[in-house]
Amino acid sequence: MTDYDALHARIRSLTHGETDEVALMATLACEIHHADDRFDWTGFYRVTAPELLKIGPYQGGHGCLVIPFSRGVCGAAARTGQVQLVPDVDAFPGHIACASSTRSEIVLPVRGRSGRLIGVLDIDSDQPDAFTEGDATRLAAILEEVFKDV
Ligand code: SME
Repeated sequence: MTDYDALHARIRSLTHGETDEVALMATLACEIHHADDRFDWTGFYRVTAPELLKIGPYQGGHGCLVIPFSRGVCGAAARTGQVQLVPDVDAFPGHIACASSTRSEIVLPVRGRSGRLIGVLDIDSDQPDAFTEGDATRLAAILEEVFKDV
């Protein structure tokens, strides 16, 4: 179980007053990744061109460099603007397998000032069905607070 109260408080104090996108993403990737054993890959994909995501700061093994909006779970989150909770990656059409050990994942849109889509936060787990609506709610709250002025 993630201690989200402690995680959120730690992130708030570390990122206070910071608005640099990469500095924020790097800090969140590190803090979130080490907050729970369920998290085997934690990182950001950034919108760098229309309909295109490129790898941002992450923790874990190698991640794909480029993901079009039309592909994978990250692409679906960017395209729809909705959180993607995937209990079984093998059942998700078009899932991009960067690590064959990944069984489930959660991807959240990351929005900045005026709702601008900055990218997505992708967390992958080697455990099946690792993520809950509770994770989605707590992670979304952290993202909203951290990136609201970016
Ligand atoms: N979960 C992703 C891709 C995996 S990563 O490159 C770490 C997807 O299908 O969008």
